[in-house]
Amino acid sequence: VRPELSDTFGRVARDLRVSVTDRCNLRCTYCMPAEGLPWLPRPEMLDDDELVRVVGLFVSMGVTQVRLTGGEPLLRRSLVDVVGRIAALEPRPRIAMTTNGVGLARVAAPLAAAGLDRVNISLDTVDRDTFAQLTRRDRFDDVVAGLEAAAAAGLTPVKVNAVAMRGINDGVVADLLGWCLERGYHLRFIEQMPLDAQHAWAREQMITATELHAHLAERFELTPHAGSARGSAPAELYDVLEPATGRTGTVGIIASVTAPFCGACDRVRLTADGQVRNCLFAQGEVDLRGPLRDGASDDDLRTLINQEMWRKAAGHGIGKPSFHQPARPMSAIGG
Ligand code: GTP
Ligand code: 5AD
Ligand code: SF4
Repeated sequence: VRPELSDTFGRVARDLRVSVTDRCNLRCTYCMPAEGLPWLPRPEMLDDDELVRVVGLFVSMGVTQVRLTGGEPLLRRSLVDVVGRIAALEPRPRIAMTTNGVGLARVAAPLAAAGLDRVNISLDTVDRDTFAQLTRRDRFDDVVAGLEAAAAAGLTPVKVNAVAMRGINDGVVADLLGWCLERGYHLRFIEQMPLDAQHAWAREQMITATELHAHLAERFELTPHAGSARGSAPAELYDVLEPATGRTGTVGIIASVTAPFCGACDRVRLTADGQVRNCLFAQGEVDLRGPLRDGASDDDLRTLINQEMWRKAAGHGIGKPSFHQPARPMSAIGG
């Protein structure tokens, strides 16, 4: 057993992304079809004891940040309890969550009390009708309430994730930034990646980081963020000034496709059914659930995890002839 989650390219994983459920209460058109997806049967999902044990193994191998994702993580009923149990691990990892914000208003305070440190909330538009079209659910007000509750509970910095889509929200990216500046949320725009369940992604359709920057520069002054080095963070950060209002803040652009950050990647993933993925775009996974239920020891499981990390590829290879979109859609990987 190697003590750290190293791969053959010298990278070391410290950030574990845990999908706690593949279910979702929105139906974002860029993510899944209107009817949803065939969800994992409950018996195939790790229960709380199994999940906390596996997270503990990763922490013992050097993971310092655990991010809870989905699907929509708030749909796991035991989430507050799970957060508390992860916060009790030693050494205590930082705990973050990526959520669509629906339902967060009610649980932001209990989650913070249990040990959640911060949240990233997905919001692609502040136009109510566009939101309803895009997510196929009329839940804009719930998300806004979720954002406010997160800030009030100290789950800060509150980050907002927006996937930029041509003909859908590309015309209103500046409005979204203005809205976030006004409220102190840290907005990040994301280049869309080929991870949709419908396999409809096309590179020509994608709004690039360069285009986004140009759109934003029409209304805001953007200067490369002067501050701590980017490290393994996916977003290129800019300091923002809105001359018309004098408001300031930051905006990030996550250029996963046009400027991949795979070389600095420090991530590893655990799916809701107990598979370890060494990359969003990995073609394979290693099963921990089977061995775990068959009585494997901690060291047996750590060996499986190490072996999977050793298979991690240099990068996602989007655009290369050899690229294949993974069989598992984004909603079942956890972003
Ligand atoms: P921070 O720690 O707050 O920077 O979180 P994060 O940006 O890593 O996580 P979040 O879940 O908010 O993800 C934001 C966007 O980055 C989403 O579109 C993710 O799909 C994308 N993303 C997350 N991890 C990876 C990755 O390993 N590779 C690539 N290419 N994109 C990723
Ligand atoms: N490409 C990039 N980001 C995506 N997300 C969902 N699907 C995609 C995609 N194909 C975003 C969500 C959420 C985060 C976890 O990933 O909007 O903010
Ligand atoms: Fe749900 Fe996120 Fe997919 Fe939207 S992008 S349907 S919020 S999992």
